[in-house]
Amino acid sequence: MALSTQGYKGTRDFYPPDKRLQKFIFGKLREVVESFGYQEYDAPLLESLEIYAAKSGQEIVSEQLYSFEDKKGRQLAIRPEMTPSVSRMVAARRQELPYPLRWYSIPNLWRYERPQAGRLREHWQLNVDIFGVEGLAADFEIILIADTILKSFNSTDDMYSIKINSRRLMAKLLEAEGIKGQQQPIAMRYLDNYKKLAGEKERNDFLKKATASAEQAGKIYGAIEAVAGKSGSLQAAVQNSQDSRALRELLSMLKDSGVNAVIDPFVSRGLDYYTDIVFEVFDNHKENNRSMFGGGRYDGLVGLFGVEPLPTVGFGMGDVTLQRFLDLHGLLPNLKPETDAVVILIGDVFKAASEMVAELRGLGARLAVDSSGRKLDVQLRSAVKSGVPFVIFLGSEEIAGSNFKLRNLKSGEEMVLATRQAADTLNSRR
Ligand code: HAM
Repeated sequence: MALSTQGYKGTRDFYPPDKRLQKFIFGKLREVVESFGYQEYDAPLLESLEIYAAKSGQEIVSEQLYSFEDKKGRQLAIRPEMTPSVSRMVAARRQELPYPLRWYSIPNLWRYERPQAGRLREHWQLNVDIFGVEGLAADFEIILIADTILKSFNSTDDMYSIKINSRRLMAKLLEAEGIKGQQQPIAMRYLDNYKKLAGEKERNDFLKKATASAEQAGKIYGAIEAVAGKSGSLQAAVQNSQDSRALRELLSMLKDSGVNAVIDPFVSRGLDYYTDIVFEVFDNHKENNRSMFGGGRYDGLVGLFGVEPLPTVGFGMGDVTLQRFLDLHGLLPNLKPETDAVVILIGDVFKAASEMVAELRGLGARLAVDSSGRKLDVQLRSAVKSGVPFVIFLGSEEIAGSNFKLRNLKSGEEMVLATRQAADTLNSRR
């Protein structure tokens, strides 16, 4: 039986046009975050299981982690997120690194999820994190970067929503309703899922799965209904505390910089390590109503590695939802192939032609020589199909005159050019 051409469920193959788009998107992301002074880092795909078990949250650890034992019986996991890895790296050089530390990365991450629109098992995620700043300036910068990224793709404010909240504030409100200790992360996850859970039955089922007893589930349910369900009473409580003042100050800093954010008490983030301000960015398009960016402050994670704790804020932004966003709002460019021209050889000129081609490449041109030996018209058809803008014909006549015969495949125009002019013509199309 023939082997299947289908890849593993929930993963994507990147054919050259797909990879080109990914490179374009990542290029823009790099440009924006580097303009804010962030430097790129990377980490291994495999980590020891325990770094996720510590703080990533129940959903990731018990349901979505790809984990296994290596040949020596070590418990390993394929990274489902980058935050534990970067915290480990920073902790390992806690004393030497220059603060504030501004780091970014675009890793591929793995989560065992049910593949659906906007959600896959392998995705790429831009991670942007700032280490060593306690005040709101860091939260502000991180959210400003998220906004700048979306604007760099020519999107406008009406296309997306930035929602911010304070977990510290929510924690206090829950505490006032009797939800303390281990019940709090469960309640936060419940809050995070509140709007996705269609009705009372779904909400009850969610809590039953997440809690140890029906009694505990009932208690959390009641408290959340009190805290989140009645937004009126929540608003009143939100008005007066210090955490709520910080939240409003952040909101006005963002507004002053042209960032259109709103406070949303339902944004609480599903991961357990967030300690204070959290935020998410949603696409406003109906067909992509998922979070594109999620992040916040997590002051305790670096300290879990046995070093002095470090205030940290950051976000993760997935490529799947971003690409859907750009697609649905008509913001994806039409990208041309990387190759400028296919060189078609006429007659037995391979050696002399190779020297001329090398010279042209030396001036920056990207050239693919068709060395298949097929008929001229077949070579030409292949070149057209590949989407390159030019073909170059090289035969004994061109070689004798040190010229290149270029054909613009779109207009059909032909020109015979010396090396420098040929290079300029090819380079100018980029
Ligand atoms: P997260 O909310 O789990 O946060 O993921 C961040 C973003 O990654 C989501 O908003 C979504 O765009 C994308 N994403 C997550 N899972 C998938 C999936 N299965 N398929 C497609 N896209 C996905 C974190 O991972 C935090 N570690 C982010 C962070 C960095 N916080 C601070 N620094």
